[in-house]
Amino acid sequence: MNNPSGCNTWQNWRDEFPVTETYIYMNHAGVAPLSRRVQEAMVGFMEDATLHGAVHADLWAETAEVCRTRAAQLINADVTEIAFMKNTTQGILIAANGIDWQAGDNVVTTAVEFPANVYPWWSLKERYGVSTRMVPERDGRIHVEDIAAMIDERTRVLTISHVEFASGFRNDIKALGELCQARDIWFVVDAIQGLGVVEVDVKLCNIDILAADGHKWLLAPEGAAIFYCANERQEQLINTNIGWSSVVNPRDFLNYDLTQQPNATRFEEGSYNSVGLYGLNAAIELLLDISIPAIEERVLGLTARLIDGLQAKGYRVLTSKTDSERAGIVIFESDRYTPTEIYETLYNENIITAERGSGVRISPHFYNTASEIERLLEVLPAV
Ligand SMILES: Cc1ncc(COP(=O)(O)O)c(C=O)c1O
Repeated sequence: MNNPSGCNTWQNWRDEFPVTETYIYMNHAGVAPLSRRVQEAMVGFMEDATLHGAVHADLWAETAEVCRTRAAQLINADVTEIAFMKNTTQGILIAANGIDWQAGDNVVTTAVEFPANVYPWWSLKERYGVSTRMVPERDGRIHVEDIAAMIDERTRVLTISHVEFASGFRNDIKALGELCQARDIWFVVDAIQGLGVVEVDVKLCNIDILAADGHKWLLAPEGAAIFYCANERQEQLINTNIGWSSVVNPRDFLNYDLTQQPNATRFEEGSYNSVGLYGLNAAIELLLDISIPAIEERVLGLTARLIDGLQAKGYRVLTSKTDSERAGIVIFESDRYTPTEIYETLYNENIITAERGSGVRISPHFYNTASEIERLLEVLPAV
């Protein structure tokens, strides 16, 4: 972690988030607020485009490449394995639509995925006769052995969220990656609920494809997403997203030549969301400045205290208490108060959370503090 001045670094990082002046903001599993450096990067781009049109487009392209390098560093990928997408779903669609399906193949996932990781796979049923097998949670956990038991000789893909949005359970993606490698099946990870708060190493975990939009734990704007496709998988994936910029000479406009880029940019179909990429670039820079291990340790500390405090007040915590089984999400419920009542009690004190199913989801990030957790616990009535 950077600490050049030796002063209270966490306070310095926190100072980058003006949202803290008004709210105790703990909904990073929903949509995160932006830091000043992200805002300034995007405003800088808009000012440039406003005053100069595309005269400085070379700089825009350079910034996108800096962002790509940082995104690669964040997940331990090679820069040739990163493409920019508009959201998580687009990345999952490219995976789902690009496999050379045979009727009777199947996909294994969980029964608690966000729909972004369900419908692209379900849509294969009608087109190709591919079925989706959904492994249920037991005691708020996805068990690796339940997934292993669901895989058979017709399974082509395991697709799963790193962190489940509704329970906060952190899947053991290293063990799942080993399973996929041993069974020779594609491993696809929806990383949006983990990337930016817990470590993700695509090589260590044998991940083939990963997708995550910027607007949650990456602290970036919506509509600027990271897509990873392992180099050795790029030729195997049928590219269903080919556009003018997917080819080797994208700017030789009238010399049509469909030779695809020899890297993941083949999956990028056209012009970038430049303002979004300026924001994403600054957001990843901030995360790398702090370092993901430092962020993970801090957030797990905050959520551990939160869980203890909620239990002491009589609430039922649905998220695992084991550090390795959770990331930044804590979900809790009570028989006495509805999720809406709890949510509103907190909202009235400017504490921002989210209702999810039968519970309330609290999702702090590194710039939240122990005293904000104490304040939240103080506001909650005992059960
Ligand atoms: C696990 C998960 N995947 C995907 C998404 C959103 O997908 P997209 O980036 O395509 O909007 C969410 C948003 O809540 C999510 O929780």
